[in-house]
Amino acid sequence: MLSAEAQSSTAKRPLAGRRALITGAARGMGRAHALALCTRGASVVLVDLDAAELETTAEELLAGLRVAPAGAEPSPAVVPVAADITTRSSAEAIIARAIDAVGGLDILVHNAGRMYSFTGLLETDDEDFRALFAVNVDAPLYLTRAALPALQASAHPRVIFISSQWGQVPDGHSYGYMASKAAQLGLMKTLATEFAPQGILVNAITPGAVATRMVPAEYHEAERAVIPLGRLAEPAEIASVVAFLASDEASFITGQVIAANGGALIVGI
Ligand SMILES: NC(=O)c1ccc[n+]([C@@H]2O[C@H](COP(=O)([O-])OP(=O)(O)OC[C@H]3O[C@@H](n4cnc5c(N)ncnc54)[C@H](O)[C@@H]3O)[C@@H](O)[C@H]2O)c1
Repeated sequence: MLSAEAQSSTAKRPLAGRRALITGAARGMGRAHALALCTRGASVVLVDLDAAELETTAEELLAGLRVAPAGAEPSPAVVPVAADITTRSSAEAIIARAIDAVGGLDILVHNAGRMYSFTGLLETDDEDFRALFAVNVDAPLYLTRAALPALQASAHPRVIFISSQWGQVPDGHSYGYMASKAAQLGLMKTLATEFAPQGILVNAITPGAVATRMVPAEYHEAERAVIPLGRLAEPAEIASVVAFLASDEASFITGQVIAANGGALIVGI
């Protein structure tokens, strides 16, 4: 039986002691996931290509944690790692660095992504197509494989993919984006199947339009018109789903696609 004080501290920081790695964490949704996880007590390793923006984000998160009301536990660590996630060697180095910094890994959030162009088949650029697969599919495969021993050693292992509604229903955006976001769902289910017997829970979130730099302001009006809730999501509204999937509350959920899209696609899948 927990004391009242311990219960209240566990409620405030339900992820205390967990170690998370979030890709694409310098800005947008990745930053929001990192904030959601570290304010719930998890130490966070932030990975991004953009070293300068990453440093600023890490400083802001640390400053926020310093002013947060002190809990019973020590403040979580915030560790920025500026790197490209798309090669096997860099993914392995990132995981080694993360484990060295925070002592293990319990939560992987595959969030990093690339902007796409609106092109049909004949205009599809091979290099762009490959680059989208590299960040959306190759990198999660390399990172998850490198992190496997750490996840197997964790008492609460979680792998969370940030896919997209366009991985569920293609709508004529770029071939590379649509196909790689769908492939993420296949990778997620394959991992979930293999590692369910070991208790590693693997799920995906499929956001609709979210107000980040990936959706330029000129598209917002058109997006609002087709989203039943009549607005784009804030990054924090996707991050709260990440925090749920990372938590003990989600202990019987694996291999699932959780849509967070303001009601888009109610008809169509
Ligand atoms: N914004 C949306 O409407 C929306 C909707 C559905 C899904 N998504 C997905 O959500 C995820 C986050 O998107 P966002 O909107 O926050 O985008 P964003 O462009 O604001 O952030 C993406 C981050 O990923 C980083 N990144 C890109 N390639 C990388 C690499 N090779 N190595 C390391 N870091 C890399 C970028 O530097 C950037 O900081 C992406 O996977 C995106 O496809 C976005």
